[in-house]
Amino acid sequence: MLLPLILLAAAPAPIQEESKVPPYTLPDPLVSGAGVKVDAAGWRSGRRAEVLRALETHVYGRTPDTSALRASAVQEVREHDAGALGGKATRTQLRVWPVGRKAPFFDLLVYLPNGRGGRSPVFIGPNFGGNHTAVDDPAVLPPETWVSKQWSDPSRPARASERHRGAQSSRWQLEMLIARGYGLATFYYGDIEPDHPEGWKDGFRAALSPAGRDTVWKDGEWAAIGAWAWGLSRGLDVLARMPGVDDSRVAVIGHSRLGKAALWAGAQDERFAMVVSNDSGCGGAALSKRTFGETVGVISGFYPGRGFPHWFTRRFSTYSENEAALPLDQHWLLAAAAPRPLYVASAAEDLWADPRGEFLGALHADPVFRLLGTPGLGTDVFPEVGRPVGLSVGYHVRAGKHDVTAEDWANYLDFADRNMKAR
Ligand code: GCU
Repeated sequence: MLLPLILLAAAPAPIQEESKVPPYTLPDPLVSGAGVKVDAAGWRSGRRAEVLRALETHVYGRTPDTSALRASAVQEVREHDAGALGGKATRTQLRVWPVGRKAPFFDLLVYLPNGRGGRSPVFIGPNFGGNHTAVDDPAVLPPETWVSKQWSDPSRPARASERHRGAQSSRWQLEMLIARGYGLATFYYGDIEPDHPEGWKDGFRAALSPAGRDTVWKDGEWAAIGAWAWGLSRGLDVLARMPGVDDSRVAVIGHSRLGKAALWAGAQDERFAMVVSNDSGCGGAALSKRTFGETVGVISGFYPGRGFPHWFTRRFSTYSENEAALPLDQHWLLAAAAPRPLYVASAAEDLWADPRGEFLGALHADPVFRLLGTPGLGTDVFPEVGRPVGLSVGYHVRAGKHDVTAEDWANYLDFADRNMKAR
């Protein structure tokens, strides 16, 4: 008997060579829905909002307005030490219920430099494995929420493990930040929403939905990246109330999937004074229409058993192998940061994230930065490895793999010194 042949759609092999990138046309972020090219006033009064709506509709979903609920925010200091890092910093660990005690909480870890006088600028970013993994400091409290296998203890599945303390400290470079006068704030992204398809049920998406865990997500509603981005804004709410923080100089940063979240947070929340994307790739700084490396279809779960369908709003996956139909591209996301300083970074071996596509994302956002009176990128040439470029839009491609390194941070801090001025 002949068995019926079932054809399961398989993803095409990833493009890894520039010569294989198909021709594409990028929609101009400065041309309004009505087809009119806007000036700076037009961008501010209407076009910027249109760009954000388009990003919600086609990529990330709409973030609910939780401003009224936030009147019930509660926070508790769990630990505080004015002599952390051998006296160089003040460490504060807070538990935050941003919409009241009936919803989940997140634990925010903050270090501020000592002896600087006045208020310090701060970088805030979510971490992958728990606050205790981000810095090498025995006093840091591990998360109590779900962690993935990579970060758990084999004897306590899904629970944070002591053996990962400091495991990602090279990605945060706390000593460097403190020495240069910057503070660091971080929280475990799984406190906001555990990163798996059912994770939303234990995070803020269910807590904030009237239907709770019975929610049926409709097209256009938010997804995990939106939730993590919302968490970054809630972290900023806390920082803005801390006396040692200069809330006019808080930069948002994220790596990889959390770089996508940092960009979306920076796009929506103009209180962030600077936006940094480290190797954010597809759904982050890289142009989708190039289809280089990871594609819309692969990331959004269009192909059975692959990708991260819970990261994006449903419509995003409909552009799989149909990127030409996307009425926007990721340069719109970067443009939404304008005129605030923006830094996009890539790693030369990280072809999955498409370094050139990340550069081109910044380049095609640049007209918006310049229209708004900032110097922008200052070049249209993809730089050599290890040579940062840019004026108020920065970019570098460093040697090596998908990671955050001391070299990346040194560039971010140089750029912040030049561009993130007290307002
Ligand atoms: C996967 C995913 C990327 C993501 C990365 C990460 O590789 O395909 O889109 O950026 O994970 O977050 O580390």
